[in-house]
Amino acid sequence: MPRLIIISNRLPITIGMKDGELFYHPSAGGLATGLNSLDDSLDNVWVGWPGKIIDEEWEKPAIKQDLKKKNLIPVFLTAKEKELFYEGFSNKVIWPHFHYFTQYTTYRDEYWEAYVNVNAKFAEVVNKLIRPDDIVWVHDYQLMLLPAMIREVHPEISCGFFLHIPFPSYEVFRILPWRREILEGLLGADLIGFHTFGYMRHFLSAVYRIAGHEHNFGMLTVNNRMIEVDVFPMSIDYDKYAFPENHIKEDEVIDPKKFKSTRNRKLILSIDRLDYTKGIPARIKSYGKFLEQHPEYRGKVTLAMIVVPSRSNVDQYQELKNEVDTLVGRLDGYFGTFDWKPIKYFYRSYSFADLASLYRAADIAMITPLRDGMNLVAKEFIASKEKSGEGVLILSEMAGASDELTEALIVNPHDTNDVVNALLTALEMEPSEQSKRLRSMQKKLKLHTVKQWAETFINEQLAMVENNNKNARNLGKDSSERSQLLQAYQSAEKRLIILDYDGTLMNFHADPQAVEPDEALMNMLEKLCQNEKNTLVVISGRDRNTLDKWLSPLGIEMAAEHGVWSKRNNKWKASSNLFKSWKNELRPVLENLVERTPGSFIEEKDYSLAWHYRKIDKDLGEKRIREYRDVLKYLTGNLDLQVLEGNKVVEIKNSGVNKGKAAIQWLRKKEWDFVMAIGDDHTDEDIFKVMPEGSYSIKVGLAQTIAQYQLLSVEHVRELITEINEIP
Ligand code: UDP
Ligand code: G6P
Repeated sequence: MPRLIIISNRLPITIGMKDGELFYHPSAGGLATGLNSLDDSLDNVWVGWPGKIIDEEWEKPAIKQDLKKKNLIPVFLTAKEKELFYEGFSNKVIWPHFHYFTQYTTYRDEYWEAYVNVNAKFAEVVNKLIRPDDIVWVHDYQLMLLPAMIREVHPEISCGFFLHIPFPSYEVFRILPWRREILEGLLGADLIGFHTFGYMRHFLSAVYRIAGHEHNFGMLTVNNRMIEVDVFPMSIDYDKYAFPENHIKEDEVIDPKKFKSTRNRKLILSIDRLDYTKGIPARIKSYGKFLEQHPEYRGKVTLAMIVVPSRSNVDQYQELKNEVDTLVGRLDGYFGTFDWKPIKYFYRSYSFADLASLYRAADIAMITPLRDGMNLVAKEFIASKEKSGEGVLILSEMAGASDELTEALIVNPHDTNDVVNALLTALEMEPSEQSKRLRSMQKKLKLHTVKQWAETFINEQLAMVENNNKNARNLGKDSSERSQLLQAYQSAEKRLIILDYDGTLMNFHADPQAVEPDEALMNMLEKLCQNEKNTLVVISGRDRNTLDKWLSPLGIEMAAEHGVWSKRNNKWKASSNLFKSWKNELRPVLENLVERTPGSFIEEKDYSLAWHYRKIDKDLGEKRIREYRDVLKYLTGNLDLQVLEGNKVVEIKNSGVNKGKAAIQWLRKKEWDFVMAIGDDHTDEDIFKVMPEGSYSIKVGLAQTIAQYQLLSVEHVRELITEINEIP
């Protein structure tokens, strides 16, 4: 059975100290509670911090032994590491920043250094542990550098990463001085998961803008590996909350009455860690405003506010504690009466049995974080209403869970009036309406439990690895398709090899003139055409002068400007029936396009005009194309011209000219017994279309294609040519 190695900063159990003795108790927070409810269908090992500084070396072996029985492997942090890595970089930089509390982001190089070092410390433990068929799954913002650190030592390992908090928009993420390193760390994984599509979109945008990797439907190609980015909304162990009786210890009971007032008061519940992202002060204020505006509800409602202690060494959390204490005191003092406390505030954590009783007792859950990656409490509340079918959820639109729990009363937590109105609606909602909404949300949660969440993630991760390793369609190294191609090449005497240049042999560059072939490429191509059995043709969109300048030393035949020009027997010849008078008419349109789109530019060739947008934002370029497409079509319609959309370029040229037509000149020349064409662009599809049966058409990259095979990158093309070159 393959092992699943889960790695998170916090283990699902934390070491505590009571009367001078160590003891173990469950950790709070969505990551620990959620992942802890996974079953044992895989052989699980969990690596993480047990939550307490153990100063004495001699105490560690015994702790390790205790934890080992539960398949847990501790990574011990020193007091300094806890301060700089955990409280510092994790919770004074990433946590506030990723939750849009940029005013709390604390920029200190020593925090960053500690973050790098502790990630390396985790890597050291994990790298020693890993066996080749293990599945590694790294969790959350404290360990974003770990995937790359693992990949460095175990290049073939299957590694996933899941972020439990929001990924902020590019504009916020880019502020971080260590943005590039963080992305590079994450890109060591095969699969990167987020709770919502919004977070995924932000991540992909940051990867494109900061690291320069473009995605194709969530697929990235980085360092010759495919990485998938996808959405996996985390869920809960539904049955555990729906039927808590089956999950408690013998001496515990589920007793809603324990928390329910006997005076028939409506119980409003909120449960969060003490965290500024949870919007606790704003919630108290909204509740106060509600009592102000609706005196008829005074004495008839109680807000039970459970606040679980969290990160109490971090300044902002201490300040928040004071603020909450003060607000609760004020609200109570102002509205409270001799026999009514409007707010019951508990600063502590509860056992599962108590939480389950509370969920059952509550009429309304008021979950109004200012930002929250997911929020599992909201889902637990919904599941807890399985039996009664009554209860109302008020949920912040800023929580990831609001994407799924759409039948909740969704509020903007910054808008006090919105929250006040939601409270009133909740209190007055008919039981039938409550039940309708609850059942609909319960149906979704039952279908998608935390077990399914983990299974889906791991299955997708395994599929990615298979894809990366085998790469059948991608002519992967050990694939049968690749050996077939090599065999066909070997047994052929008359071989035609057609290659595109940009994006196939050389990577793109913002400046098109900067992609002069490097020495390695020239040597490779030279070797390829020196083989007497081979005819090598480069068919490119480039102008003939550039192609001549770069490739004429090879003495090969070529086609330029997508087939406008062909060079055969050392002479360039233009296709027949070409005209260029139209350029004067079309040029001003492209000039206008450049004027409106700074950073784009025009390239003028003999018989074509091209508008390039490779130096600017791709989305802006595509928007402009959409705007100008009709104008260009209209202007070219009567002129026997065509408008070609390539890779960050639009080209206008004479109809009837394309790379396919150019290729035919060589395809018809001989009875070839091996034909291979490689290209990356839309315009190369015309070559693939005319390829004879039994030939090999290969697309570079992941875009849609009619080619038979795909290679991931320029590096993969070069690898294949090198391999071919070893065959006589
Ligand atoms: N929780 C807990 N003990 C408590 C109160 C809550 O373990 O006393 C659990 C709760 O059941 C939930 C988790 O802590 O599973 C909180 O997860 P959530 O996603 O709502 O917020 P996070 O703390 O992860 O930000
Ligand atoms: C959130 C984070 C988790 C973290 C938990 C509790 O759920 O996403 O990574 O473990 O809060 O916070 P703590 O700092 O106590 O681990």
